[in-house]
Amino acid sequence: MIVTTKQLFEVAYGKFAVGAYNINNMEQTLGLFRGNIQSKAPFIVQISKGARKYAEVKMLENMIRAAEELFPEAIFAVHLDHGDEETCYDCIDSGFYSSVMIDASHHPFKENAAITKRVVERAHAKGISVEAELGQLGGVEEDVKVDEKNANLTDPNEAKEFVRQSGCDSLAVAIGTSHGAYKFTGSQGLHFNRIAEIQKLLPQYPLVMHGSSSVPAEEVRRINEAGGGIPTTAKGVDENEFAKAIPLGVTKVNIDTDGRLVWTRVHREFFRDYPEAFDFRKPGTTYMTEYANFIAHKNEKLLSAGKLEEVRKSL
Ligand code: G3H
Ligand code: 13P
Ligand code: ZN
Repeated sequence: MIVTTKQLFEVAYGKFAVGAYNINNMEQTLGLFRGNIQSKAPFIVQISKGARKYAEVKMLENMIRAAEELFPEAIFAVHLDHGDEETCYDCIDSGFYSSVMIDASHHPFKENAAITKRVVERAHAKGISVEAELGQLGGVEEDVKVDEKNANLTDPNEAKEFVRQSGCDSLAVAIGTSHGAYKFTGSQGLHFNRIAEIQKLLPQYPLVMHGSSSVPAEEVRRINEAGGGIPTTAKGVDENEFAKAIPLGVTKVNIDTDGRLVWTRVHREFFRDYPEAFDFRKPGTTYMTEYANFIAHKNEKLLSAGKLEEVRKSL
């Protein structure tokens, strides 16, 4: 059942984080739904601009509709990840999305707030909620590349003023994470003090943590042993830190890179072990099972595992 993102956040705030997982193809979609059913968790399916281009919007949306039919017990929201203004309007007008993200964080504050406000007005008129971003995460966001040094943390006073001016329903905050596989070096990690300061000024307000993959060293090792060349400097968020961020208002956690690593590891190992093989359904089947297990594991860490019935009762 597709629900609004707001409905999920109302149950989750302070208690668990809703996993927001990107999809690009059928295998990811089936693995995602199976993993959430396996762990009895509510979740968010996200579609990026890149995914819309890669797999065709109609294909992605109809895959989600098919999954909804195949898994009638699933409770989830459908979200546009890192949208520009035009893509947000497209999704709002389609009537299919629960929420959209307008990512205008590369603009100065005033312009970011003004763009976000325009999107909020169009979205709210249709009952769709809006996630915005303030501060810049490191890594690559669609076409915008930000390096670690220039990734500035979200200023709490600005966050409060931004929400007031724009009317956005949730806010992606820069709290130390970045997109992709190279988030941290040495002892870097999440900035809990910063999250706490933001929560103080925005109590009961859902914060979104992008760039939340954990880039497991074991996964990177196996990929490299099977012919990959991922630098071992790749390092992500310690998944045990999610539980500390949740009481501070982190209500949505975005994970994409880790799922790509599962895909890469399964396929590299398969074709290394069976060099004569070419039936892609074999590694595809393994991938779907492994991805489902991965999702179930993440949901345990996000404390969303087992919360499906609580959400169902709240609807
Ligand atoms: O934050 C970005 C997500 O990982 C989606 O990535 O734009 O390559 O589809 P993508
Ligand atoms: P990762 O690259 O850490 O998976 O982040 C994904 C994300 O933030 C999607 O919006
Ligand atoms: Zn992101």
